[in-house]
Amino acid sequence: EKGGYEHFMLKEIHDQPKAVRDTFGTHISEDGKTAVFDELNWTADDVAAFNKILIVACGTAYHAGLVTKQYIESLARIPVSVEIASEYRYSNPLTDDKTLCIVISQSGETSDTLAALKEAKRLGAKSLAITNVVGSSISREADNTVYTWAGPEISVASTKAYTTQLVAGLLFAVYLGQLNGKMDAQLGMDILSGIKELPNLIHEIFEVDEDMKAFAKHYGFKSDAFFLGRAIDYAVAMEGALKLKEISYIHAEAYAGGELKHGTLALIEEGVPVIALATQEDVYDKMISNIREVKAREAIVIGIGMKGDDELSKHVDHTIYVPRANKFIAPILAVVPLQLLAYYAAITRGADVDKPRNLAKSVTVE
Ligand code: F6R
Repeated sequence: EKGGYEHFMLKEIHDQPKAVRDTFGTHISEDGKTAVFDELNWTADDVAAFNKILIVACGTAYHAGLVTKQYIESLARIPVSVEIASEYRYSNPLTDDKTLCIVISQSGETSDTLAALKEAKRLGAKSLAITNVVGSSISREADNTVYTWAGPEISVASTKAYTTQLVAGLLFAVYLGQLNGKMDAQLGMDILSGIKELPNLIHEIFEVDEDMKAFAKHYGFKSDAFFLGRAIDYAVAMEGALKLKEISYIHAEAYAGGELKHGTLALIEEGVPVIALATQEDVYDKMISNIREVKAREAIVIGIGMKGDDELSKHVDHTIYVPRANKFIAPILAVVPLQLLAYYAAITRGADVDKPRNLAKSVTVE
């Protein structure tokens, strides 16, 4: 059932082209111009009925929420807050009947997320679940459900569920932007065509497998690693750091590029691995400055950039390229090398990849 792969995690990383295709499946109109959600069938008035969006989730799904916030705010111009589900209920939340609460959960059974959903509903919010399990508790509790079609995810470390959550989040943001008219029409079509290309583009990324294996061999016994990114890449950095921590047990931290110098730069010294994401054009030059800051302290930098970016390799020790894509598509590509890096780091250290210590696949206790 591992389909010839040594671990479920590696199989699930390789399942991603299909998982992504199955998830966008029915959500793009035949002419490729419109995001479609028959399960919602909302009108412009339905969208106008809420003035803010709240996303609640845990762990990797929370990271998908952070990316989705940027999708929705950029494309539909609706303010979005993202809360960790276990914190939300105890925060005396500003949720009301003009709030759309989106919960993101692979399993659909995470207790903290379910409890947060119930609380948001109690406060009057309209609710939408993005989940991978049909008929799960969260899908039954929410007013509406959008499914990701990643298929069963067995490995404790989430991979294909995350990328399909981003696809669902991006499609939903385009849907909102098309309904409320806040999104540039051409941009919407570009994003939809970019989503359709994703399965092929993700396949292309698997070429970096050998490189990631080599980095893991070289640096897999370091005690710390840092992940840097700005804008959407910061959320990707957080996901990369979590993956590395949970399966390889290497201490990892994610930092917004510009925030490093406000404290954490003190930890950067010779030989510390830094994985720097540079896929976001709007902040590219700023990111390069941040890379120079860590290089000046003799960190080892692995830069993740888009194909055709010859500048990046001048500033880093190793460069990994993902296919060039629209900035909203880029995070769905950039996370794949990070998943592979975490996987091979765990292998290098002899860790139990699919069943990391102390963790359960579905957390049904609060
Ligand atoms: C990390 C991971 C966890 C889950 C989290 C939420 O790789 O898998 O952080 O993302 O426990 O689980 P779901 O999405 O099932 O609510």
